[in-house]
Amino acid sequence: MTVPPRRPTPLPAPAAADSIDRSAEPGWTLPAPAKLNLFLEVRHRREDGFHELETVMAPVRVADRVTLWRTDRGPETELRVVGPFAKTPDGTPIPTDDHNLVCRALEKLRQMAGVDQGARVLLEKRVPSEAGMGGGSSDATAAILLANHAWELGLPDRDLHEVAASVGSDVPFFLQTGTAVCRGRGEQVEPLTMRSSHPCVIVKPTIGLSTKAVFDALAEDRGPGPMRTLSDMVAAAAGGDWRAIARQQFNRLENAAMRLAGGLRDAAARLATAGGLEWMLTGSGSAMFALAPSDRAARTAAQRLRQRGFDWAVATRLG
Ligand code: C5P
Repeated sequence: MTVPPRRPTPLPAPAAADSIDRSAEPGWTLPAPAKLNLFLEVRHRREDGFHELETVMAPVRVADRVTLWRTDRGPETELRVVGPFAKTPDGTPIPTDDHNLVCRALEKLRQMAGVDQGARVLLEKRVPSEAGMGGGSSDATAAILLANHAWELGLPDRDLHEVAASVGSDVPFFLQTGTAVCRGRGEQVEPLTMRSSHPCVIVKPTIGLSTKAVFDALAEDRGPGPMRTLSDMVAAAAGGDWRAIARQQFNRLENAAMRLAGGLRDAAARLATAGGLEWMLTGSGSAMFALAPSDRAARTAAQRLRQRGFDWAVATRLG
């Protein structure tokens, strides 16, 4: 098992956040960045139902924020979700019970550490859900790091990785910072040197996609082309030329996702005609992204796409 070498340190919650909570304990806060899959090949379906992956994941500067206060009311998580994406694409509120990975992660952490501490959590959702951007997974990682700190558990990286992997395939990636190659079902994380933090544009069509449904649809449609290897993307990432990276972008799940959601195919067709960038699905979708030559080009593209009816189109950067 590869244990990620670096992880962010929780910071004291700002006074404004502390005033939301009336408990005596000080709060701790962390950003929970989203990710993009620059490359994603699915090697095969395993006996446990998961798929064996080779993927390159890069964090982006679009992030949720998680703030956690310790409580003394036993092993409970009180979760409050606010922000522009506090609801899913069909208007359903983001769950605040065990369906939310934050609650699940804190429960797994209690089990691992053998403690019965409580937490109150404020989750500010700025990353769309059902987008393939890892928002829920990143929130869970932030909650693990915050609770390890606030509950004074002092668990080593290896244990945090085990808790994270038990919560979801993408959760361990967020224990470290920076671009990484992820293998296995996604939980084997190996840092990757990537030169420069490239500007990019991300759009989220209104439609949302379930990760499980997209992986299931792969059995019917793997899309064209032979099995791809990582080496060209790894070389392009190290070289730092954004065009070279854009040329190596690949996502084996793209055809399956478009087969499930005709609206996604339409969105991809509209993007292809809007400004000459190379668009690619991230993860199981439905968000799509493109690297851009400059921050200005990324901002202009995002603005045009909003004018063309994409509700959520943002200019940001990798890393
Ligand atoms: O690990 P996570 O809970 O995020 O995965 C959600 C679903 O996505 C799994 O239940 C599985 O159906 C599918 N999946 C997969 N192979 C992976 C990751 C996820 O089949 N490597």
